[in-house]
Amino acid sequence: MFDDLINKIHQGDCLELFKQIPDESVDITFADPPFNLNKKYNNNKDKLKIKEYLSWCMEWIKEMVRVTKSSGSIFVHNIPKWLTYYSSFLNEIAYFKHWISWDAATAPMGKTLQPAHYGILFYTKQPKGFKFYELRSPHKRTRKSNILAKDYGGKKSLLHPFGPLVSDVWTDIHRIKHNKYRDEHPCQLPVHLLERIILLSTDENDIVLDPFSGTGTTALAAKRLGRSFIGFDLSQEYIDITNSKLSMELTNSKIGEKWVSFYLDEVVTLRNDDWDYLTDFFFIPNNPSDIDTIQIALKSKSKRATGRAINKIGISKENQSTFLFPA
Ligand SMILES: C[S@@+](CC[C@H](N)C(=O)[O-])C[C@H]1O[C@@H](n2cnc3c(N)ncnc32)[C@H](O)[C@@H]1O
Repeated sequence: MFDDLINKIHQGDCLELFKQIPDESVDITFADPPFNLNKKYNNNKDKLKIKEYLSWCMEWIKEMVRVTKSSGSIFVHNIPKWLTYYSSFLNEIAYFKHWISWDAATAPMGKTLQPAHYGILFYTKQPKGFKFYELRSPHKRTRKSNILAKDYGGKKSLLHPFGPLVSDVWTDIHRIKHNKYRDEHPCQLPVHLLERIILLSTDENDIVLDPFSGTGTTALAAKRLGRSFIGFDLSQEYIDITNSKLSMELTNSKIGEKWVSFYLDEVVTLRNDDWDYLTDFFFIPNNPSDIDTIQIALKSKSKRATGRAINKIGISKENQSTFLFPA
């Protein structure tokens, strides 16, 4: 039964596993497939002939669209080279919304400009009536003096105290560089990247499906944000890592009653609609122009202990605290 598949990661080939998912049964699908760059995954070959790779991609993309609800969205992450093919295929079976450019250094691909972004295709199942929420991320500030990086001239007093609406260029989310934060996986994505996608396109309790779950970034983000998930991966080893992280993760990425995305105790994404409610939880300068030099801050600091930190320093589940209350 479909319900038995929810909140689990399933081992196997995604095209086989997709057969168990009914049409229009999940709210969003997100895929971060092998890039065909000969990466050292556990048990699959990441080096197919171009035609073979692309025809395989078209099969799982078609499945993603099939299982997504009419109110839902389809997201595919890859290097621009492959996204150009995906896009022309997706244009036939879904509705283009955005090509999100995620500013992050990528592997050199021969004699080229240094690739510096990944793309995330954002398509919807229907042209209208899909779930979409405007998001905000914090203002960019200079590293040393912490003043606004952009010169807004006389318009500073009109700025939103938290930060601008999220655009289709994401420069504030960094790849996981340090080994101590990484799992044994060559391409693990940052959880707050997935949290942004989930906040953008889903409601609480919605179902997020990821056919290439890896070490479970999508599942973790969904769990933190009170959503359900379904994941597939060929590798039992990656699934074991995911399950161990999930067992220590709490559904608590919230300020009061509103779901937000944190990174290192700072809120990195929130919903524009939630701002009126959330203002009480922040210290905001009385004079709006002061945000040029003063960053708004949470009244009560969260300490979000991740599963990885718990593994390393042995904090028990009960001792994690992420809860925030108005001061
Ligand atoms: C780019 S990684 C995904 C990483 C993931 N986003 C994360 O943050 O951990 C691609 C994953 O797809 C899995 N994979 C490759 N071929 C597959 C297939 N046919 N069916 C299911 N999973 C597959 C690999 O084992 C690998 O973990």
